[in-house]
Amino acid sequence: MLDAARGLLACPTCGQGLDADARPVRCRAGHSFDVAKQGYLNLLGAPPPAHADTSAMLDARARVLASGAFDAVDALVARRARGVRTVLDAGGGTGHHLARLLDAVPTARGVTLDVSVAAARRAARAHERAASIVADTWGTLPLLPGRFDLVTCLFAPRNMAEFARVLGDGGLLLVVTPDADHLASVRQRYGLLGIEPDKDDRLLRTASGLFEPVGRQSVRTPLAASAELVGDLIAMGPNAFHTAPADVVGLETELAVTVWLFRRR
Ligand SMILES: C[S@@+](CC[C@H](N)C(=O)[O-])C[C@H]1O[C@@H](n2cnc3c(N)ncnc32)[C@H](O)[C@@H]1O
Ligand SMILES: [Zn+2]
Repeated sequence: MLDAARGLLACPTCGQGLDADARPVRCRAGHSFDVAKQGYLNLLGAPPPAHADTSAMLDARARVLASGAFDAVDALVARRARGVRTVLDAGGGTGHHLARLLDAVPTARGVTLDVSVAAARRAARAHERAASIVADTWGTLPLLPGRFDLVTCLFAPRNMAEFARVLGDGGLLLVVTPDADHLASVRQRYGLLGIEPDKDDRLLRTASGLFEPVGRQSVRTPLAASAELVGDLIAMGPNAFHTAPADVVGLETELAVTVWLFRRR
């Protein structure tokens, strides 16, 4: 619900605070933004880019998340989020991960931000303490400075300077990245895109100066994936833009991710 974003949103035109309770939502300078009937707020100010996740990708991702495959990751994220009051989930997709965090942390409210309208539409109904906005992580985030206790970014693009700007003093950034062998048997069998080898270095390099690394934990969970789940694991990723394999079978695979925790300097 959009009121979860009260006091957190900034006007993408002038940067002043947006009144999340007004309809249309507006800033003091009179810039106004309609709330979509599905409940999300589009602050992108441009058509979504061609690479934004599609409805079909989001449906597949929602089924994978509903299967419980990522529950161990959500449990760890929730432990790290204890006591926070305001959370931004950047590239939040369906809103599933923010919703699980909010279930575990009853004092928290949050904003899920995604450049995909299909994602924002789903995320708008993910949790009553979650607001859903359409925005581009690579731009200036339409969020007021210093208002968040925690930014989470799971398998999504990271704009470290903007994450630091919206966090308050001592605010936490939690990043989840896939390890080199994440879902390896599925990726090998279906020739899916690989995971870049230098991505950990890149994360640490882009964080340095803005954030201090304070924790790193790996999560490994065996996954006996049915043919349907394998099909969804393929369809939810960027590979869905290439050819879909015809012969999907069930596979033993492994979820292998790293959960990184940084503190704003
Ligand atoms: C791999 S999905 C992960 C989604 C979600 N965090 C999860 O783990 O279920 C990446 C997400 O980032 C979003 N995304 C990609 N580029 C983005 C951008 N420039 N700004 C905001 N979101 C973006 C996509 O639309 C997609 O929902
Ligand atoms: Zn304005």
